[in-house]
Amino acid sequence: MTVVQFDSHPRKSPDNWVAPQLAVIVPSYNERDNVALLYDKVTAALGATPFEFIVVDDNSPDGTSEVVRDMARRHQNVRGIHRLGRRGLSSAVVEGILASAAPYFAVIDADLQHDETVLPQMLEKAIAGDHIVVGTRYSGEGSVGEGLSKAREAGSRFATKLSSLVTGKALSDPMSGFFLMRRSVFDEIAPSLSDDGFKILLDIIVSAGRSRARQGKELRIGEVPYTFRPRHAGESKMSSIVVVQFLGLIVSKLSGGLLPTTFLLFALVGGLGVVVHMGTLWFTHEVLNFNFVWSQVAATLLAMTFNFMLNNELTYANKKLRGWRYLTGMLTFYAVCSIGALANVSVASWIYAYDGQFYVAGLLGVLMSVVFNYSVTKVFTWR
Ligand code: GDD
Ligand code: MN
Repeated sequence: MTVVQFDSHPRKSPDNWVAPQLAVIVPSYNERDNVALLYDKVTAALGATPFEFIVVDDNSPDGTSEVVRDMARRHQNVRGIHRLGRRGLSSAVVEGILASAAPYFAVIDADLQHDETVLPQMLEKAIAGDHIVVGTRYSGEGSVGEGLSKAREAGSRFATKLSSLVTGKALSDPMSGFFLMRRSVFDEIAPSLSDDGFKILLDIIVSAGRSRARQGKELRIGEVPYTFRPRHAGESKMSSIVVVQFLGLIVSKLSGGLLPTTFLLFALVGGLGVVVHMGTLWFTHEVLNFNFVWSQVAATLLAMTFNFMLNNELTYANKKLRGWRYLTGMLTFYAVCSIGALANVSVASWIYAYDGQFYVAGLLGVLMSVVFNYSVTKVFTWR
């Protein structure tokens, strides 16, 4: 039989194909100088275990995707998912898992901070019955080593305490980005995961715990200690934005998912907008002696602009508008907020006429406009 060779790359042979037992999912953003080294280390660590290596890259400016394609030409168990127009660690991880075909998967950072040599031990525990196995820096032999600054270690420990509020479990490192689990457990809960932020493991633990509890079953979580290493090449993408998003996720989970994280962040930004508004009003009216109407116009414009910019960075960081779409987005945002303000005033006046208490009417008017602005800008501005 003649086989058409389209180019010089070696083709995958069905004869030596072994189905993967483990999928190693690697989210990446600007990790050009780390991914190939990670692959070699994982290969050495896993020995004879058949695995696939899936890198999910968000169109990194440093060309990580090109490096991954080059690896995929040389190794038949490497694949890249190259996403355009989106950013986000959690959603990248979810997409990688969904694209994998193995009964178990592990999630590991690209920058070599996680110790790949404990992967076989993690897999063993999962095969023995744990639903989720977490690589932990905070128990047994585990430690943050040189991997975290003092300030970040303190932040990480505080976040760990906060998250026990929502998991209801005393886990030593729910903030870990390093874990391994059974595919079937993930499939049950995939639709209920929120796709923003960094804290995919926390989200998985909460959702899987609820789902198993509904079936009257327990969620078994195992831990394997490891020492966190300093990042190999490149820079961390952790930022204050990520921290605020995490706090939003905690509150959202405490509400049982009733209040989406994006809504909470949108409302927070709205609250800050009120401060900007009042500050501007005071400055233009009291200090610059503008008349009230012009001061109010200036304050409104400035507050709306501030809200648009902050929502774009924080609330919708995973679908940030840029360039031309930034301008059109800003215009739709102004338009929606103006209608929201009208709705606010009409609802508040109506309630005031009925109830006569100014603060009840005022608060309900504000609530009304936040819900309105959120729902409508979600569709028209950050669609
Ligand atoms: N696809 C994609 N998109 N990948 C991303 C993105 C993104 O927007 N942001 C970050 N990543 C990838 C990075 O390339 C890296 O492989 C991994 O996610 C972790 O990102 P880092 O920037 O290295 O984060 P970190 O080291 O500061 O935080 C890590 O440690 C924390 C514990 O201290 C992460 O593992 C966190 O999940 C963990 O909580
Ligand atoms: Mn890192």
